[in-house]
Amino acid sequence: MKIAVLTAGGDCPGLNAVIRGIVLKGDRIYDHEFVGVRDGFRGLVEDDLVPLPRQRVRGLSKVGGTILGTSRVSPMTNGGTDRVKEVMDKHDIEALIAIGGEGTLTVARMFHDAGINVVGVPKTIDNDLSATDRTFGFDTAVSVATESIDRLRTTGEAHSRCMVVEVMGRNVGWIALHAGIASGAHAILIPEVPVTPSQLFGWVRHAMDRGRAPVVVVAEGFTFAGEEGAVASDRTDGFGRQLLGGIGERVTRMIEEATGVETRNTTLGHLQRGGVPSSYDRVLATRFGTAAVDAVSDRMWGTMVALHGIDIVNVRLRDATSALKVVPRDQWDEAAILFG
Ligand code: F6P
Repeated sequence: MKIAVLTAGGDCPGLNAVIRGIVLKGDRIYDHEFVGVRDGFRGLVEDDLVPLPRQRVRGLSKVGGTILGTSRVSPMTNGGTDRVKEVMDKHDIEALIAIGGEGTLTVARMFHDAGINVVGVPKTIDNDLSATDRTFGFDTAVSVATESIDRLRTTGEAHSRCMVVEVMGRNVGWIALHAGIASGAHAILIPEVPVTPSQLFGWVRHAMDRGRAPVVVVAEGFTFAGEEGAVASDRTDGFGRQLLGGIGERVTRMIEEATGVETRNTTLGHLQRGGVPSSYDRVLATRFGTAAVDAVSDRMWGTMVALHGIDIVNVRLRDATSALKVVPRDQWDEAAILFG
């Protein structure tokens, strides 16, 4: 079978490990032929494809980024499913493996509804897909954020400053929660849990009173209790979703004004997505890749591979894109016991 592979949406450590898993198993076990689609759905509608032989994927599990390139170009506004079918037919491509986050998997579901043979692979550093217990990329992002916070803590302590760290996560607080727990933050602000400014100032003062340099981890999607909308930017990505960011700077100013403690903000941004994947992410991504090629070979169209417990399973794309996985309140409560 001839199979196209694409990576779409924001990049994520582990994408290359998925591609490697797909191609190595697909070649060895099933004798499939693979083509790579350049820059996500852009390459699919613009007929920009490259051969993907097994030699091309050797040694890739430890390489960050994606050898195929990625973008947030939506195919639905650039020719739609008719154009995708046209390109696939032209090259005798029977199936597509789409590796991406919520936006990509929603498009994959629409492809399936339109009769295109597609299997999805979930990826996102945000860990916000409810149909899978974990997404690869998350572990690496948390490790990068944790190491960064550890470093910021020592400079904060040297100056007796409060250090605010804004982390990614879009509309959920998974990265903030895990990096905050791992680094022993004095406050963790996430979109799922409403917190008032005075609660935050209380945690900062409490840490200062005990001679500590307060560390505040804030997820980019956070807003204070009673406020509406986390959007701090008027820019949108290619899927029409608003980009977040900027809350760290605002929290920093508020802390300084209310407490008088000198405060600095660091926005970690795309550092959390770059570089080599952690060993956990390499393994999960590889398992997702080999399972995806099994799903294609079994013609399980309209499904996505997912991690349930320690097993890789197949779920329907329709169910995979229906709800975001948010941080349960009790998990934040457990972390908050350790604040201050
Ligand atoms: O979804 C992954 C993510 O890194 C989010 O955490 C973040 O809000 C967004 O992508 C940033 O997008 P971009 O790379 O387009 O700036």
